[in-house]
Amino acid sequence: MKIGILNAGNVGGRLARAWAAAGHDLVIAKDGEDRKLAPLLAELGGKALLGTIREAAEFGEVVLFSVYWPRVEAIVAEVGDALDGKIVIETMNPLDVTSDFVHFHDVEFMRDSSTSENLQQRLPKARVVKGFNLLAAPVLEAAAWSEAPVGPAVFYATDDVQAGQITRSLVVDAGFRPVNAGPLKAARQIEQVAVLLHKVADNEFNGDADLIRLAMTVIEAAPGPIARDRVA
Ligand SMILES: NC(=O)c1ccc[n+]([C@@H]2O[C@H](COP(=O)([O-])OP(=O)(O)OC[C@H]3O[C@@H](n4cnc5c(N)ncnc54)[C@H](OP(=O)(O)O)[C@@H]3O)[C@@H](O)[C@H]2O)c1
Repeated sequence: MKIGILNAGNVGGRLARAWAAAGHDLVIAKDGEDRKLAPLLAELGGKALLGTIREAAEFGEVVLFSVYWPRVEAIVAEVGDALDGKIVIETMNPLDVTSDFVHFHDVEFMRDSSTSENLQQRLPKARVVKGFNLLAAPVLEAAAWSEAPVGPAVFYATDDVQAGQITRSLVVDAGFRPVNAGPLKAARQIEQVAVLLHKVADNEFNGDADLIRLAMTVIEAAPGPIARDRVA
């Protein structure tokens, strides 16, 4: 599949690596100085080419939209109509960031919207999917979970059934377990889980983002057969 990586940053760079290994063809772009992508391009060899934001959007049958939330307006302007009809998997959390690189959620915005619904409004002809926003970038690599008994879930949400199916297969290609959370509006709940995970990381793990994986066990806990019997 042809995939455009619209910003190969912490998240997009890791997914680019996984999807290239799974055999997909990529055009990767950087929001900012694209010379920083030289090592990744060298590593991926012929599986990935460097492009502008617009070129990555034009190339992909599927496009990963993974930019900082405050940059969304500028990136959408750069993309123009290139995402019309495309499956657009967006990974954003409604975060702002201080000059010291401290992140905080825009809880006012989150009350009655989500980054996914906002992006869908900005790109009405795109087939927007929410996904990949809950795993901190350092653990957004299958290898980080090699010792785990159960691989981590990647929740996704979309109004487009076919886009959801393709997203499922790309989640699997990246080494994770796809979990369908329903229509795009469910992005609100998925983004709220990120707030919860940040609070848990702050309070239980001294803010160590890598340890958010432990917090994930809270929502990973699945009732086994005995628990099911007891519930019934
Ligand atoms: N990072 C995560 O753990 C994570 C997890 C899930 C979802 N998301 C969401 O996915 C989207 C993309 O996130 P991303 O992290 O992949 O974006 P990114 O493109 O890696 O970073 C965004 C911006 O922050 C700068 N930056 C990155 N790391 C920095 C650091 N340690 N110190 C100072 N500046 C730094 C980048 O500068 P340069 O251009 O110089 O690199 C870039 O301008 C966002 O909407 C985010 O909320 C992120």
